[in-house]
Amino acid sequence: MAPGPVPMPPYVGEVFASCNIHHRTKEFSEVLSRVFSQLPQVFQTEQHCYILPATGTGGMEAAVVSTLSPGDEVIVVDGGKFGERWAKVAYAMGLSVKRVEVEWGAAVEPSMVEDLMGPQTKAILVQACETSTGVAHPIEALGTLCRSTETLLMVDGITALAAYDLPMDAWGIDALVGGSQKGFMLPTGLSFVSLSEKAEKSMIASQFKKYYWDLKAEKAANLSGKTRYSTPVQFVLALGLVLDELLIYEGLDKHFAKISRRAQVFRDAVNLPLFCQSPSPSLTCLAVPGGSGAGEMKKRLFEDFAISIVAGQDRIQDKVLRIGHMGQMTEADQLDTAKAINALL
Ligand SMILES: Cc1ncc(COP(=O)(O)O)c(C=O)c1O
Repeated sequence: MAPGPVPMPPYVGEVFASCNIHHRTKEFSEVLSRVFSQLPQVFQTEQHCYILPATGTGGMEAAVVSTLSPGDEVIVVDGGKFGERWAKVAYAMGLSVKRVEVEWGAAVEPSMVEDLMGPQTKAILVQACETSTGVAHPIEALGTLCRSTETLLMVDGITALAAYDLPMDAWGIDALVGGSQKGFMLPTGLSFVSLSEKAEKSMIASQFKKYYWDLKAEKAANLSGKTRYSTPVQFVLALGLVLDELLIYEGLDKHFAKISRRAQVFRDAVNLPLFCQSPSPSLTCLAVPGGSGAGEMKKRLFEDFAISIVAGQDRIQDKVLRIGHMGQMTEADQLDTAKAINALL
């Protein structure tokens, strides 16, 4: 019941247990091209989506190194462990970082970002969902701030994509990053990146040196049904099955509604308050009584009830419990988890 990696559908496990197919065969190339044609529907974009063999953080770095240049000024929304991650990536790349410090558990006020923005601001780096606190940041409003400017809105959608509505084009997102182990219900190991037309223009101007993360070259290969280097074949085959489920058999709207319903069922049943404002549908972050003891509760939940969840990270490590609503699970699983937590109180 963790907010990632999430329980996977059995058919995903079966793909990983099957024999290898060579990535340069015509058969595989057809599957890959189909996946490239479907993935943008989850991002809700007309743009290409890259499939990168790296965990989510690799996708974040690929988005930065592809579109920005050393010394560029960026605004980082830092309201948790993953806002901090954006800042660390940005510092490591030699960007000039302005941090918007947001209290852990709060969503950023768009005006806090607007106050720091100027003609020199090259990008805003923010999470759609800050997994460490359970907050959904106001991405649509940040998109409105950036739309008529040169500033790129770069969104880490790792705990949001394929879990709730995050329409890249409609909300004016310029770089959107996803990860395989959350809403996509796959093992950890892939990230996905899509760049708007505005970000593609910045890609041409980007002065960062890169080789593997040269997305311009990658796109040319992708359009002919290939990746430049060896493709993680099983990941792509399994992704194809998940995309069929989300887009054809279930439908994205129904899938999003199912995850929201799970969150509601859980929140209605559990006898603990939410830690955050503006909760994301993809996970629930609960404040434990007295502000400590989350680690012990997590341990007892596993030992007494065989339910695996996570506690907090960093400064709120022992203060919160986090329960995911993504992946192969049912509303009954959510209710069982809530009841087990209640029994420990
Ligand atoms: C919002 C968010 N961003 C980034 C990451 C980092 O992804 P990874 O650990 O896959 O590199 C995670 C992982 O949980 C996440 O939840």
